[in-house]
Amino acid sequence: MRVVAAPARAKARKMFTQGGTHLSLADALSCYDSWPAPDVVVSDGPYGLRSFPGDPPTVNSLAKVYEPHVLAWSKRAKPSTTLWFWCSEIGWATVHPLLDSAGWSYVRACVWDKGAGHVAGNANSKTLRQLPAVTELCVQYVRKVLLPRGEDGKQVPMKDWLRAEWQRTRLPMSLTNQAAGVKNAATRKWFTACHLWYAPPGEALAKLAEYANEHGEPSDTPYFSLDGEAPVSAEEWDALRPTFHCPPDRHNVWHHPAVRGAERIKLNGRSVHMNQKPLSLVRDTIRWTSDEGAVVWEPFAGTATALVAAALSNREGYGAELNEVFYRVAVERLRSTHAEL
Ligand SMILES: C[S@@+](CC[C@H](N)C(=O)[O-])C[C@H]1O[C@@H](n2cnc3c(N)ncnc32)[C@H](O)[C@@H]1O
Repeated sequence: MRVVAAPARAKARKMFTQGGTHLSLADALSCYDSWPAPDVVVSDGPYGLRSFPGDPPTVNSLAKVYEPHVLAWSKRAKPSTTLWFWCSEIGWATVHPLLDSAGWSYVRACVWDKGAGHVAGNANSKTLRQLPAVTELCVQYVRKVLLPRGEDGKQVPMKDWLRAEWQRTRLPMSLTNQAAGVKNAATRKWFTACHLWYAPPGEALAKLAEYANEHGEPSDTPYFSLDGEAPVSAEEWDALRPTFHCPPDRHNVWHHPAVRGAERIKLNGRSVHMNQKPLSLVRDTIRWTSDEGAVVWEPFAGTATALVAAALSNREGYGAELNEVFYRVAVERLRSTHAEL
């Protein structure tokens, strides 16, 4: 039997680099291993709507198309990496089980509402047998972080680990405020088993750990330890938590018209890319979930909106685009972005 070797993945045919921005004319699959680990991944890839060359005609194959990408993101992500997954409703529903099984934890589905103007005059409601769609989704995921439980070393989710470690001390829950040095009810959220749970900041956890190890029932295994040797430090703990600078005035419905006017990129008077995303929305997601200097991945660059947003926000950007026309347009856009910085 003749064994035919699988074709090697194409290397980047061209590459643009300026400042901290890098865009390859290539299949993203051939790039992931050479990019630094991401703090944020902005995925705006196939929709299953035949909406750009190469987009499958239905969502039936989407999970298969995304699988190698999702596995690569999981392999290269840090415990603190955030993923923003843009897609249609049915596209996201199709890919969610894959993301979940690859260790991505669902946080929030955000709805981009383009407004009625998006379909005005285009939707023949006499013949349409469905409501016209004026939305897309952008779904936030973080990594599922598993930690070794003190009593048996079993890897458990962060939320269960916190409760298990405190319970192991045999100290009452009512002491957690005092232990963490806080006066408010925050510790209830850190130790709750319900959906309102969130992780404490490193400084508070270091205090909890110190208190637990001083006042808890004597144990051979230190409380709140990642390695079984010493309690976790504030810095080690913070490196496990995704960044989130919560905007005070925003929620998960984003009212924003489809890209038009000067922002819409055109060639010979025609829109270049049907899927160009509003720069301000993409920029906000990046700024909420990373700090300056962070690494942003845009595997399906199109017109490279996330790379532009990253550059404007003092983040490094790494992207790939398969289509040469889109690549050239994106490179021009990135050049003029950098010229204005
Ligand atoms: C939905 S569009 C992205 C639009 C982009 N967010 C913007 O604002 O312009 C998806 C893009 O991914 C590209 N693409 C699809 N599969 C790819 C792959 N495996 N590697 C790199 N690019 C890919 C397509 O050519 C298409 O331009």
